[in-house]
Amino acid sequence: MELAILYETGEGQTRKIVGVIADQVRALGHEVTVIDAAEAMPEGALERADKVILAAPVHERRHPRAFETALTAAREPLAKMPTLMLSVSLKAAFAEGMDEAQDYLTEMKMRTGLQPTQEALVAGAVRAGSYDYFQSQIVKHVVLDGQDVDVSEGETEFTDWAALEKTVAGFLDR
Ligand SMILES: Cc1cc2nc3c(=O)[nH]c(=O)nc-3n(C[C@H](O)[C@H](O)[C@H](O)COP(=O)(O)O)c2cc1C
Repeated sequence: MELAILYETGEGQTRKIVGVIADQVRALGHEVTVIDAAEAMPEGALERADKVILAAPVHERRHPRAFETALTAAREPLAKMPTLMLSVSLKAAFAEGMDEAQDYLTEMKMRTGLQPTQEALVAGAVRAGSYDYFQSQIVKHVVLDGQDVDVSEGETEFTDWAALEKTVAGFLDR
């Protein structure tokens, strides 16, 4: 099977997630093409695929604009094939944040017309070292408001790798 992964990342966690998925898919004997939505889309890359995984993070309640533009442009081919949409956010790391994490995805689907066959809310990471002052204030006081997480330094990863592997395996099997 030929799989395409279309993704975008801000601080790198979604790129890491995509790398882990690509390794998993290749280990199962499939071909993978990884496409960064922030760069030029290779001609026909999505059309050639049997299945497509879409992955993007949430920043200030939205998935990246270039990612949304790529989804809107590829709406027709994507509607014809099985798709798995992975929405990466910090709200998805906490049970009480799940409704909000789902809202980000629902709003993105309304804007782009994407109707994925399968979707998952994936917990991302805090990467304090890569934030400027403004970003660290947003993550601390808005995104993680009420959570007992120290964002002052280093990296705190919330991604559940075992659950992600299961989600991807289920998508490949369907
Ligand atoms: C400036 C900024 C704003 C963010 N806004 C949100 C948000 O509104 N909701 C949320 O759940 N997570 C938010 N996050 C957390 C990111 O979704 C999380 O860190 C994710 O792992 C980022 O993925 P990436 O490294 O691929 O960019 C924000 C992070 C930053 C730095």
